Amino acid sequence: MADAHVPTIIQAWHVTRYGGPEVLALRDVPVPRPGKGDVLVRVQATTVSSGDRRIRSLDLPPGMTTLGRLALGWSRPRQPILGTEFTGIVAAVGAGVTRFRPGEPVIAFTGLRQGAHGAYALVSERAAIVPRPPALGIADAAALGFGGLTAMDYLRRAGLRPGEEVLVVGASGTVGAALVRLAQLGGASVTAVTSAANADMARQLGAAATIDYAAEDMKAGRERWDIVADAVGALSFRTACPMLRDGGRYLAIASGLGDLLVRRRAGRRCIAGPAAERPEDLAALAHLAARGLVRPPVEAVYPFEALPAAHARADTGRKRGSLVVTLDDEACPPTVRQDG
Ligand SMILES: NC(=O)c1ccc[n+]([C@@H]2O[C@H](COP(=O)([O-])OP(=O)(O)OC[C@H]3O[C@@H](n4cnc5c(N)ncnc54)[C@H](OP(=O)(O)O)[C@@H]3O)[C@@H](O)[C@H]2O)c1
Repeated sequence: MADAHVPTIIQAWHVTRYGGPEVLALRDVPVPRPGKGDVLVRVQATTVSSGDRRIRSLDLPPGMTTLGRLALGWSRPRQPILGTEFTGIVAAVGAGVTRFRPGEPVIAFTGLRQGAHGAYALVSERAAIVPRPPALGIADAAALGFGGLTAMDYLRRAGLRPGEEVLVVGASGTVGAALVRLAQLGGASVTAVTSAANADMARQLGAAATIDYAAEDMKAGRERWDIVADAVGALSFRTACPMLRDGGRYLAIASGLGDLLVRRRAGRRCIAGPAAERPEDLAALAHLAARGLVRPPVEAVYPFEALPAAHARADTGRKRGSLVVTLDDEACPPTVRQDG
């Protein structure tokens, strides 16, 4: 079943080889055709995430480059159209799809299938795709999945309990911001490690206290935390262990190979690896966002033509929350000019 207005040729950003933002090329491509169980969505807004820039540049955590080439493509990404999170309007559905119909606004996360950096994207009905609540703005909806799904999965694997003390390293990034918010909603007392410039943002997200990483040593004070959630790779399981109470958990979200190999040390646990992308988590995030309990910070909204400028900004490692890219200027107006 298809919307009569679906074009046959669309524009999409391609990664031609691993490298800087200059490897991105805007190309005309055939609109993807929904197979059995697929939903085709007209993309209204997407993001350039830290994951997109990692794949584009093959700038992966220590020890992961060869594994990365095997998984992603040896000399260039096997899937040349990046982009994992987006919001838009269902344009067509493949055979067997029962939950979605053309015309319906949705939020989706494609994970390794990617493909959101084009005018239309495919997502399996069984993947993370949920109706978009009417109360949710387009930019907020586009930015809900990447940080939110990662934070939800890691906090679940950590078994977060109300009253626990949680340290979030990198609280002003997309993942860190979601960790602060969701841990606080889960009843934890959260301390955020940020630069002084981003301390207010962390407090607004729900941090009870902040540590300025340029002025204070977050490793000072032994056995202080129940959970250390490291969204930067500033620590390792070995260096985080003395900071953790007995039974404490280190969340190695930006982990290198080392933290994937050692899972237990002196009564502490290390939780690492790719986060699960559960449809029910995206539904829970959309519900929380519709009630105003979660709002992913959005640093800027780029026009689609300026997507490489969003990659350049993500490359700095300094972005505050998410970089949204709009393909529907009316529904989601850009906040930066085309030249970035
Ligand atoms: N395991 C998984 O499944 C999974 C999923 C998603 C992401 N990740 C990984 O998680 C990491 C974080 O992703 P992200 O999207 O949140 O990144 P991001 O948005 O690019 O993070 C940028 C933020 O990090 C802060 N920052 C940089 N260095 C810092 C430091 N030493 N201490 C504290 N804050 C620091 C910056 O703030 P300042 O400018 O104030 O320093 C900036 O606001 C990435 O390595 C990504 O690859 C893993």
